Amino acid sequence: MKERNPASGNTGKKAAGEAAACLVEDGSVIGLGTGSTTAYAIREIGRKVAEGLDVLAVVTSYQSEMLAIEAGITLTTLAEHPDLDITIDGADQIDAEMNLIKGGGAAHTREKVVAYSSNEFVVVVDDSKMTDKLDHFVPIEVLPYAKELVMRYVQELGGEPQLRFATRKDGPVITDNGNFIIDASFGVIDNAEALSIALSMCPGVIGHGIFTDVADIVFIGYEDGSVKRLDIP
Ligand code: A5P
Repeated sequence: MKERNPASGNTGKKAAGEAAACLVEDGSVIGLGTGSTTAYAIREIGRKVAEGLDVLAVVTSYQSEMLAIEAGITLTTLAEHPDLDITIDGADQIDAEMNLIKGGGAAHTREKVVAYSSNEFVVVVDDSKMTDKLDHFVPIEVLPYAKELVMRYVQELGGEPQLRFATRKDGPVITDNGNFIIDASFGVIDNAEALSIALSMCPGVIGHGIFTDVADIVFIGYEDGSVKRLDIP
């Protein structure tokens, strides 16, 4: 199973996160993803807020909630602001067709809700996340009651399911929504859309980490501090 964060410095993540923060406009309602790259964007938005930028933010996890509060960003909810102007979020892997795998931090279900609620979805990654074809494991958030069914379903689809265990807590990871995570390895994924649809059809699957046809802009950060911006048609 591929590791969540391949060994690399954080310069690329920082460069990408901070570049994306520059797209946030005064008066906008924004979505904040989860993870170490998005954290750089959140801190940068916080710096802009301190200088007078006026934004409201919907978070996707306890992690982004804590970071946003610390950064001085005013929070709101999808119930109050169902239409977001822009969302900034990370990814575990991006293929040549701009399909993403997310969920290394187990926040992908809310991240997908926020992405689909957003007018513009901006992805921030360092260059280690870019690949020709997806082959990262797919995180699947499952109702604990349905764990065995989903494991079997993944196997029938040709995948190898593994329940994600916590570190510094005994037993499985419990998501911010109170569910389990099954990490499913499928080797090279030739048809991300077909796999996405198939996984969504299994009862007990709350959300999986394949995001197709959702990225509008991708910022790729490099170890030398430079950033490449890709605008997805
Ligand atoms: C959170 O569950 C994920 O979707 C993250 O956005 C993704 O794992 C990228 O995280 P990093 O920016 O920490 O690599």
